[in-house]
Amino acid sequence: MAGKIPNTFIDSLMARVDIVDVIDSRVPLVRKGKEFQACCPFHEEKTPSFTVSPSKQFYHCFGCGAHGTAIGFLMDYANLGFVEAVEELAEGVGLEVPREKAVGHPTQPKESPGRLLGVVDEASNWFQQQLRTHPDAKKAIAYLKGRGLDGRTCAIFGVGFAPDGWDGLLVALGTNDTRTQQLLRAGVVTRRDSGDSRKGREFYDRFRGRIIFPIEDHRGRVVAFGGRILGEGEPKYLNSPETSLFHKGSELYGLHRARRAIGSENRSIVVEGYMDVISLAQFGVENAVATLGTATSRTHLQRLFRLAPEIVFCFDGDRAGRDAAWKAMQVALPEMQDGRQLGFLFLPDGEDPDTIVREEGGEAFRARVNEALPLDKFLFDTLTTQVDMGRMDGKARLVSMARPLINQMPAGALQQMMLDRLSSLTGLSGEQMGKPPQTKVAPRQRLRSQPLEPGQLSPMALAISLLLQNPHLGTKIENPEMLQQLELEGAEHLRQMLQLIKQDEGFNTARLLEHFRDSGVHSYLEKLASYPTSIHSEALHRHFNDTLEKLLAQQDEQRSLHLLEKSRGQGLEGGEKQELLALLDAKKQRIEQVSK
Ligand code: UTP
Ligand code: MN
Repeated sequence: MAGKIPNTFIDSLMARVDIVDVIDSRVPLVRKGKEFQACCPFHEEKTPSFTVSPSKQFYHCFGCGAHGTAIGFLMDYANLGFVEAVEELAEGVGLEVPREKAVGHPTQPKESPGRLLGVVDEASNWFQQQLRTHPDAKKAIAYLKGRGLDGRTCAIFGVGFAPDGWDGLLVALGTNDTRTQQLLRAGVVTRRDSGDSRKGREFYDRFRGRIIFPIEDHRGRVVAFGGRILGEGEPKYLNSPETSLFHKGSELYGLHRARRAIGSENRSIVVEGYMDVISLAQFGVENAVATLGTATSRTHLQRLFRLAPEIVFCFDGDRAGRDAAWKAMQVALPEMQDGRQLGFLFLPDGEDPDTIVREEGGEAFRARVNEALPLDKFLFDTLTTQVDMGRMDGKARLVSMARPLINQMPAGALQQMMLDRLSSLTGLSGEQMGKPPQTKVAPRQRLRSQPLEPGQLSPMALAISLLLQNPHLGTKIENPEMLQQLELEGAEHLRQMLQLIKQDEGFNTARLLEHFRDSGVHSYLEKLASYPTSIHSEALHRHFNDTLEKLLAQQDEQRSLHLLEKSRGQGLEGGEKQELLALLDAKKQRIEQVSK
C-alpha cells in the first residue's frame, strides 16, 4: 500500500483545480449569473437545480441535496475512491501525486510510487533487452513468430523475455538490499516462504522462462507484467501480484495505447487476453483492451465510457463466454444512461479474437463487431431461452427475471424501451407491471442528502457556515481574543478555519472543506457549506461578528448556569463566586445594550 497523500498536496491541488471545468466536461453547464447550472446528474429532473459556484468551488443541488467539492463530485459521479479522484484531478492539472512515508513501520519504509515505478520500468527494459540479447531468446522469438507477431508489434507493446533460471533479474537489478526490497514490492521478485527451512536462496525471480507482456496503467506507466509460458504448461499466464501500483480490478490491458483509437472509432472493444489485444492491433484494430484475468468491473466500464459511448464485449461463444458476458452486462446496466451503447460479440467455438483476426483479417473482424448483439437483444434472447414463452407462467417468469435487471438502469428512453419490449413480449401493459423506481442517486449521495432545515442552526453552526461560505470574513474579526476563550463544541474547528484563512487569503470553501475530509465532521461541514444564508454582502460582516458575540454569550450562559447549580448543591469554591458574579454582571450589561 502507498502512503497517505499529504494534506499540503490536496490543498495545492484544490487551489489549482477549477470545479467548473471538472464538472462541465462530464455534465455540460450553463452560466447563470455568478454560478453555473445543469440538470442534476444525481437525480431525475427537468428543470436545472444543480448549481456550481466558482467562487466557493462547490456544487449543490437544490433538488436532491447532493453537494461537495471537485473531489467529492468525482467520487460520487464517477464512483472513484478518494485517492483515484485525487489522481484524476491531479492528472488534469499536470501534478504528480506525492505520498507520505507511512509512520509506525520503521523496518519497512513505504515506497513512494515514483520509486517503484522506476523499478518496474527498469525491469521492463531488462526483459526487452533479454529478448534481443539472451542466448535463449531464439526460442522466445520463434514462439512469437509462430504466433504471427511481427517485430514491430512486439516493440510497440514492449514484449520481453524472462530467461530460465532463478536470479537473472535479481542479479542484474537487485544490486543492494534496498533495491532487492523494491523489486519485491514491485512484484517482480518473490521471497521464499519463511516456513521453508530447505537450503536455498531467499529471493528469486517471479518470471522465469516466459514471454513478458508489460502492463501499463491508464496513464501509460508500466506497473506490472503478465508472463506467458512458451508453449504448453501451467500456469499458462503468470501475472504480477497486486502491488501499490497495480490493481487488476481497475486496470485494463492496452488502455493507454488504445485511447486515441477508442476516441476516433467512438467505441471500445473488451477482449479477454493479452494476445487478443496485440494481434488485433497488428491487424489495425487498435481500440481493443483486455481485462486482466478478472471479471469486468464497474471501474473498467467507467474508464471506457469516459472515452467513448459504446463498449463491445467480445467473448468466446462457449458457456463460460456467455456467462462472462452476462456478468459484464449486469455490471454495466446501472451505467446505461441514454447515449451509451453496449454490444456483445460471440465468436465461433474454439476461436478467440487473436485466432480469428489472423484468419480473417482486420476488416472482417470489424464487420463482426458492427454486427454485435445490442444490449436489449442479448438480454431478452438469453432470458426467453430460459423460460417457456408458450405458457402464461413462463411469461410471468420472464417478467420476474427481467424487471430487476431493467430497474437497475438509469431512468431514460432506453430503460423505457426495454420495458416496452417486455410488455410486448408478455402482453402486459406498463401499468400492470408497475412503475420502476425512479432514482439515479448513488447510495453514498442518498445517505447524506438530508438537508438542514432553515433556522435550525446553533450560533456555532451558523458562524461556521458563514465563514465556510465567505472565508474573507475571517480576515476582519472585531474581537479576535474572545475566540481563544471559546470552549463550545465546534470552537476548535472554527479556530482551525480562521488559522488557515489567516495563512492564505486565497482560501475558498472547497479548500477549507478538504482540510476536514478525514475528520468526523466533514459531511456536516459540507451541509453547512450549502446552508442557505441569504444575507446581503454588506450586512454579512456585521452578521458574522454578531454571531461570534452570541457564541460568547452562549458560553457565559452555560457557565453561569453550571455555577448556579453548583452553588445550590455542593457550594462554590475558590474564585468561582467572583466568576459567577462577573458573568451575571456581563449578562446584565448585554441585556441593557440590547434594550437601548
Ligand atoms: P485464455 O486462457 O483465454 O488465454 O486467457 P489466451 O488469451 O487465449 O492466451 P493464448 O492465446 O493461449 O496465449 C485469457 C486471459 O486470462 C488470463 C490472462 O490475462 C489471459 O490473457 N489468464 C489466463 C491468467 O491470468 N492465467 C492463466 O493461467 C490463464
Ligand atoms: Mn488465445
